[in-house]
Amino acid sequence: MILFQSTSDLRSYISEQKAKNLRIGFVPTMGALHAGHLSLIKIARQKCDLVVCSIFVNPTQFNVASDLETYPRPLSNDIRLLSEGFCDVLFNPSVDEVYGNDFTKDSSDDYGSFIHLLEGASRPGHFDGVITVVKKLFLLVQPDEVFFGQKDYQQCLVIQTLIERNFPFINFNLCPIARENNGLAMSSRNVRLSKEEFELASDLFKNLTHILTNWKENAWLDALLEARTFLSKKPFELEYLEVCDQFTLEPLKAFKPNAIALVAVQLGKTRLIDNLLLKPTL
Ligand code: PAF
Repeated sequence: MILFQSTSDLRSYISEQKAKNLRIGFVPTMGALHAGHLSLIKIARQKCDLVVCSIFVNPTQFNVASDLETYPRPLSNDIRLLSEGFCDVLFNPSVDEVYGNDFTKDSSDDYGSFIHLLEGASRPGHFDGVITVVKKLFLLVQPDEVFFGQKDYQQCLVIQTLIERNFPFINFNLCPIARENNGLAMSSRNVRLSKEEFELASDLFKNLTHILTNWKENAWLDALLEARTFLSKKPFELEYLEVCDQFTLEPLKAFKPNAIALVAVQLGKTRLIDNLLLKPTL
């Protein structure tokens, strides 16, 4: 695996690969890699000639300073995992290399009303920071295919909108959520959970599954209310649990066959999100 820290070195390397007509797959990350990230690398490996991963803890998308400061950064372990996972290129720039002195953020305000719901409401300015950095990374890496995890479902909608508007030649891949044996969605922030919290956190997936099991016109609303009641009790602090349209993220007022349940809770010091696509079972 080749490691680049400078944007100009990466730019010249990418130009050489483009000249060879290689299909470039890109997996942007903030590091602290786990099996979920490695599954994205694996899917990219199957579809592309050259797999590029970035590790960059992007300061402009954090709206809580302590979250940025304590974000895990186990770089040497990440490098080992990526090499073993057959990643070709790692881009690991400094903040200065990406932003210089200019931390101006792009605005996601006109991306549609979905931008202000759920994560947009809980983390003001977060998606502005995401599109700012992802745009810079796409311009540098010039990928043909990009791979994002469904765990950050709303982020996936944001990136799809960015692609439609600015990078129509990039193919977006929505990749399944990787889960622990107890159902907890894998996340870099899970290392902050105590052993007890790790077990309790499986209740998120259990409650999403409860909604899916009752995904019928006459049962879904009761199941949603039951799940909300469950996750509103200590030790959870429920931020939201909604059943929404898959594209607009507007909370459903009436049943429709395809939707998505999305949840965010605070558990101790850790904020957890998860989601489950809802469709009728046969
Ligand atoms: O999902 C993430 O890890 C980040 O939001 C991303 C897409 C790498 C942008 O910093």
